[in-house]
Amino acid sequence: MPISFNNERNMFVLQTDNTEYAFQILYGKFPVNLYYGARENAEYKDYEERIVSFAPFHKEHHLSYLPDTAMLEYSGYDSGDYRTSSLKLRNVNGDCATFLYYKGYRIFDGREELPGLPSADADADTKTLEITMEDDLTGAEVKLYYTVFPREDVISRYVKITNNGENKLVIEKCMSLTLDLPRCDLDMISLYGRHYGERNYQRVPLHHGLQSIFSRRGASSHQYNPFFALCDHDAREEEGRAYGFNFVFSGSFADEVEVCQVGRTRIQVGLGEENFQWHLGVGESFVSPEAVMTYSDSGIGKMSRNFHDFVRRRILPPEPFEKRPVVLNTWEACYFKIDEAEMLRFAETAAKYGCDMLVMDDGWFGERHSDWTSLGDWYENKQKFPKGLKSFIDSVKERGIKFGIWVEPEMINAASELYNAHPDWCIHCKDRVRMESRQQLVLDMGNPEVVEYLKDIFSKTFEGCSIDYFKWDMNRNISQAGSAALPPERQGEVYYRYMLGTYELFRWFREKFPNAMIENCAGGGGRYDLGMMKYSTMIWTSDNTLPWDRVRIQYSSMLAYPAATMSCHVANHGGSCEDPRQLRYGWHVAMGGALGYEIHLPNLSDTVKETVKNQIETYRQYEPLILRGDYYSILNPFETNYSAYYYTDGRDFLLSFLQFDEDTENEIILPVSTADANATYLDTVSGKLYSGAELLAGVSAFSDTSRFTSQIWHFVRQ
Ligand code: GLA
Repeated sequence: MPISFNNERNMFVLQTDNTEYAFQILYGKFPVNLYYGARENAEYKDYEERIVSFAPFHKEHHLSYLPDTAMLEYSGYDSGDYRTSSLKLRNVNGDCATFLYYKGYRIFDGREELPGLPSADADADTKTLEITMEDDLTGAEVKLYYTVFPREDVISRYVKITNNGENKLVIEKCMSLTLDLPRCDLDMISLYGRHYGERNYQRVPLHHGLQSIFSRRGASSHQYNPFFALCDHDAREEEGRAYGFNFVFSGSFADEVEVCQVGRTRIQVGLGEENFQWHLGVGESFVSPEAVMTYSDSGIGKMSRNFHDFVRRRILPPEPFEKRPVVLNTWEACYFKIDEAEMLRFAETAAKYGCDMLVMDDGWFGERHSDWTSLGDWYENKQKFPKGLKSFIDSVKERGIKFGIWVEPEMINAASELYNAHPDWCIHCKDRVRMESRQQLVLDMGNPEVVEYLKDIFSKTFEGCSIDYFKWDMNRNISQAGSAALPPERQGEVYYRYMLGTYELFRWFREKFPNAMIENCAGGGGRYDLGMMKYSTMIWTSDNTLPWDRVRIQYSSMLAYPAATMSCHVANHGGSCEDPRQLRYGWHVAMGGALGYEIHLPNLSDTVKETVKNQIETYRQYEPLILRGDYYSILNPFETNYSAYYYTDGRDFLLSFLQFDEDTENEIILPVSTADANATYLDTVSGKLYSGAELLAGVSAFSDTSRFTSQIWHFVRQ
C-alpha cells in the first residue's frame, strides 16, 4: 500500500519502493512530520516537540506542541511559527495571520489534473493523499496533495486553496512543498549560473539562517536552476544519504532552506512571495504548481537516477519519431543570413551526410535581418522565401529530410508591425520607461487576446506546412511587470498569469501540431526546468557550444535531468571542425545527450562531411544507452579536471572520459562499478576484450597536455 492511515497513531504513511514518509495529526489538529528516509527498517516514535522559551503557543498544548519549532507539513504565516512560512493569506481585516487546522483526508488512485499547469503523469501505481485543513476565521480551505510514484521513489506535493469564507482573500505567499527535517548536518547542492554559463555545481554546508535559491525573472532562469539537493557531508556518488527537490514550473520561484534555532531544517519549494500575488474571490480556488522530492540512501547518483526515471516516464512528452532526430541547426553557421537557396543547400548536404533534420533557426520571418526587428510578425519574408513557406518546406522534404523551424512566440520587438498595432500588448508599467533586452520586449501572455493572436497567426503561417519540429526560444527576462489588461490591484498577478498564458500556448502547439517535437530554448538553458520538459522533448542546454564548457554544464544538468533532455550540438569554433582531434572531442562531449550539429556543413571539407556521417552512424549504436540508460558519474569536472561517466542498460556500457582543461600526462582509473564480475565485454571502439573484473577494477584513461583529450569505450557483453 503506497499510502495508509494508521488509526491508532493518527498517522499517515507514504511508501515508495525504497523510501518512506510519515506524519501524524497531533491533537487531531496539527499535521507534524515524523520521518522521511529509507523504507527498509524504517522506525519512528510518536512526535516529540523541542520546547524553547520566548515563542507563543496554544495554551492547551504548551508542553507538547510549539508552532515555532514544530515539524510542520504546512505552516501558516504569523501563526506562532517564525520560520519561513508556507502560506500567507491577507484577509478582510487587513492582517495576514493564517491558522490552519486539520479537518480530514481522502486517499485515491491516480491523481487530479492541475488546471492550466504542467504536472507529472500518473500510472496504475500512482496514489494520492489529500489532507484538508481550514482557517476557521477566514473560511480558507487548504488541501495538501501528496502524490506517490512508487517505482521512481518520488513524492510530489501541491496545494489547493479555496475561499469558503464570505470575504475576499489575497494570497501573498504560497509554497507547494514544506518539509521539516530533524537535522541540519547536511550539504546543499545547487546550480547557479548565467547566460552562456548555466548550472555550475555548488556544494556548501548548511548554516543557521535562511539559504535560498530563486528566480525573480519570470523564467526559471540561467542564474539558479529550481533543482537542489541536500546530502550528508560525506555523501558521494554511490554512498550516503541524499534528498533531491525540484519544481514543475518555469517562472519565478523560491527554494528555501532554513536551519532554525533547534537545528531542524525547513525545506520549501514554491512560488515564493516576491513575484507572486493572487486575489481569491469568494468561492474561488487557486491551485499551486507541483513540487517533487526524492530520497536515496545510496548516494547522490541514485537520487539523480530517480529523477531521470521520473522525468522520462512522468514528465517528458511521448517521442514523436521512432528515433530522436540528429539535427543540423543553422544558427551558428548562418545567423540571420538565410534564404531558400541556402537552406536547400543545407537540406541536401544534411541528408547526404546522415542528419535527420534541418532546423532553420532565426531570420526567416518579417524583416528579420538582425535582432532589432520583427518579433511578433510571424509570417515568412517574401524576399527570402519567394515561393512561400509551404513550397520551401516541401522542397526540403523532397531531399529526404525532416524540417524544423525557430519561433520565439512570447516576444515582441518595438520595431514590428505588431508593436505598431498594439503597443500595450507588451508587459510594461503604466507611464514608465520600457526597458529592452536584446532589443526586445515581452508579450503580455496573461492577456488572452495576445495568446489568441499568436494562435491565429501561427495557424495561418504554418497552414499546410509539414513541420516536424519547433525550436521555441525565449530570449529575455521580464521587467516592469505590469499589464494593461489588469486593474491596478491585480498587477501583482502578472508574473503568474504570464506563465499560465505561456503554458496555454504550449498546449495549443502540441494539439495543433501533434506530430511535431518541441525543442525548448531560453537563450540556451534559461528555462531548463520540469515545466518546460512537460511540453518539450529536449532543451537547448546552453548557447555556449564550447565543448570544454559543455563538459561542466552537462555534468550539472545530469544531477537532476536525464540525458534525453539535453540537446547537444557539435559546433565549429574558429574552424575547430577541420582539426580531427577537436572534431572528435566535440562529438564525444555532444554524445553526453541528444547529438546534433550546428556547423556550415555545405562549406566544410569532404573529410569533415565524411567524419560527421561516421559520427552519426556510430552514435546510432550508442543512442539507446544514452537516451534511455542509467547514468553513473565517476568524476566530477568541478572537483577534478575531468568528467567521466557511463550509461548502461544493465548489460552494455558506454563509458566516456572528457578532459576539461590542459593537463599533464596522467593515468586515471575509471571503475565501471556495476559491471558483472563474471561476464566478458567487447569494447567495440578498440576491438579489445575485457573481463568484468577488469571493468570493476577500472579502465585506464590518460590525460594529456591538449585540452581536447577524450576517449569513449563501448562495452558489449559477450
Ligand atoms: C538564442 C538561442 C540561439 C539562437 C538565437 C537566435 O540566443 O539560444 O540558439 O536560436 O537565439 O536568435
